[in-house]
Amino acid sequence: MTLLWNRADLLAATSGHFAAASGTDIAGTGVSIDTRTLHPGDIFIALRGENSNGHDHVARALEAGAACVVAHEDCGTDPRILRVDDTLAAMQAMARYARARFGGRMLAVTGSVGKTSVKDMLHAALAACGPTHCAVASYNNHWGVPLTLARLPAGAAYCVCEIGMNHAGEIAPLAAMVRPDVAVVTTVASSHLGLMGSVEAIAREKAEILLALHRGGIGIIPDGVSGQAFFERNAAQAGATVWRAGTGEGCAIVPGPVRATATGSDFSLRLPGWVGEAHVSAPGRHMAANAMLALGAACAAGADMARAVAGLATFRPGAGRGAMTKVMQDKVALLDESYNASPASVQAALDLLGLVAPGRRVAVLGDMLELGAFAGHEHVSLLPAVRANADIVFCCGPNMKTLFDTLPPSLRGAWTPDSGQLAPLVRAALRAGDTVMVKGSLGSRMRHVVASLQADDARVGPA
Ligand SMILES: Nc1ncnc2c1ncn2[C@@H]1O[C@H](COP(=O)(O)OP(=O)(O)O)[C@@H](O)[C@H]1O
Ligand SMILES: [Mg+2]
Repeated sequence: MTLLWNRADLLAATSGHFAAASGTDIAGTGVSIDTRTLHPGDIFIALRGENSNGHDHVARALEAGAACVVAHEDCGTDPRILRVDDTLAAMQAMARYARARFGGRMLAVTGSVGKTSVKDMLHAALAACGPTHCAVASYNNHWGVPLTLARLPAGAAYCVCEIGMNHAGEIAPLAAMVRPDVAVVTTVASSHLGLMGSVEAIAREKAEILLALHRGGIGIIPDGVSGQAFFERNAAQAGATVWRAGTGEGCAIVPGPVRATATGSDFSLRLPGWVGEAHVSAPGRHMAANAMLALGAACAAGADMARAVAGLATFRPGAGRGAMTKVMQDKVALLDESYNASPASVQAALDLLGLVAPGRRVAVLGDMLELGAFAGHEHVSLLPAVRANADIVFCCGPNMKTLFDTLPPSLRGAWTPDSGQLAPLVRAALRAGDTVMVKGSLGSRMRHVVASLQADDARVGPA
């Protein structure tokens, strides 16, 4: 196990002091903010959240074998307790310290959709080239990013961070902490439109990531992205180079033909200094586009491309993000997109449904949230994609009602106020050979529908 934090580094990073003297050094091999997942040897940082306070769990952390506990409330005099002024600020300071001593290549991924997919694809690609540290899940906010960096081994070859935002002003401080060598903007689309006001405001915010590049760094953006001028301007200001992905003039990342199937895509790709073929085992053109950005970023980070391509092929989409399984005694194909939803990702999931389904195509859609005053328009705008890619549509939630009401009667399955009521109706309507795609924002709880479809299998088995 890699040693991440000793006493001297912790003191230098946080300017804290230990609650009592001790002759033994600290050997922190991990960093934790939750005692339920703490491993012996972790540095436990007692964060204060909206509904929880890590300081209430300090005793448990010490009992569970924490190498050190970082705290700003009085938690006793155990010599493993490091007192600081503020634990979140201490974690951020540890992040900056770990970033400064890191000798490998730093990559950051932001965008409206596709961040976690590109981050995980990059992880798969780069891990085949050298020791790679990567953000867990979607750890992309004011605690997720510093936690990722605080866990970064100084000797890793690559680090991949995800940077997200719901509000203006969130990207810049996180990007400044990450200081990427390579920054990827996956997409600029209308996610969080309700809070951000306009797609232009979203683009302006995302473009902040390029300001954090150093001179000679590389920013990767889709060609023709909304707000391209902001991206170009910020990259120029940072002295960084922009690699545009697309088929337009001057693009550095140039996709060739994509052969898309129900299980994934084969594509050819031209990058600066490399031309070749690659495969990604996640269906949908949007996943092929993500894979091209990931390979472009790997190339920009100086990775061995033959290895990166082989590594990328090991990527699999996570639960709720396009994982395809069989349910109801293998009679029905389930495309689980229940993790979240924005206009761009519902569109992509509907296109995917049209692509993968040999039989009847069933779309089950829950509300897309955080769209504010734009909600009605954004939901109704899905109509052409729904008509083109689904044979029957089930909807739940007040926003999806506006879409459901505009559907031709032949496409209408059922609408219910919530996903709990919808689940049995969907199940009852499914027939052998159907493909069902379930999607909605996390708050729409579309997992209930997925769980209900999977529950049938749990009952099948030896009597
Ligand atoms: N490039 C893309 N365009 C449209 N939808 C996408 C794209 N990449 C991923 N998605 C879809 O968006 C949803 C969220 O994907 P994820 O990679 O977790 O993005 P994020 O981390 O930005 O939220 C998933 O349903 C996924 O299939
Ligand atoms: Mg994410």
